[in-house]
Amino acid sequence: MKYNTIAIVMAMEEEALPLIEHYALKKIQFHNPVTVYGNNDLSLILSLNGKSIEYKIDNIGSQAAAINTHIVIEKYDPDLIINCGTAGAFKSKNTKIGDVFIADKCVCYHDRRISLPGGYEEYGYGNYRVINSDIIAEKFDLKQGIISTGDAFDAGIEDLNIMKKNNVDVKEMEAAAIAWVCQLNNVDFTALKVITDFVDEPHKTGDDFLTNLNLASKKLKDKTIELVDYLKK
Ligand code: ADE
Repeated sequence: MKYNTIAIVMAMEEEALPLIEHYALKKIQFHNPVTVYGNNDLSLILSLNGKSIEYKIDNIGSQAAAINTHIVIEKYDPDLIINCGTAGAFKSKNTKIGDVFIADKCVCYHDRRISLPGGYEEYGYGNYRVINSDIIAEKFDLKQGIISTGDAFDAGIEDLNIMKKNNVDVKEMEAAAIAWVCQLNNVDFTALKVITDFVDEPHKTGDDFLTNLNLASKKLKDKTIELVDYLKK
């Protein structure tokens, strides 16, 4: 399947700059707090969650990701959204730092615990649709995995239990929110996540994240370009 208009939705500017440069994207609009970049005919959009004015850092997490995706769909009508970013993974699953995963099967949440009867528990997990990634993974040497989203960078015991139950491979902070807005609007969705740290290691994941961010961003850029060039009409 090839797409006319692809939008890349990202949280961190540092991770997006190599892509903006590669495609020579221009800043086209600011929809508070979202900053949108595009190519000449707006067939390729890259949209950032924007900055927190108070803390002077990138907006990360599910609330900014949902607003970003809503704006991108309303204003630019993409037929595919790709969420790119960094993520944690599990050493016990034989994952390596720098591995790049593409979303497989579904995207879910691990911190929306709603233990009520009548569908609320399943509603909390989300389980949103992603496009089939079998051919893409093989072609571009990507790992396939179930991606799970939460608004905490660390992983508490209950989060870990839910991730185990849902057979999660990749832990990050945006994909499920984006996939939800895509599903609401019938827009195809996939995600590419490069691994910067391990969730099941005893030391601080934040330190590993910062150490590996630069190298991981370069790898993410290369794989995103391969994917976009392959999927775009
Ligand atoms: N992004 C990079 N590493 C992460 C982690 N361990 N959890 C959530 N988001 C991340």
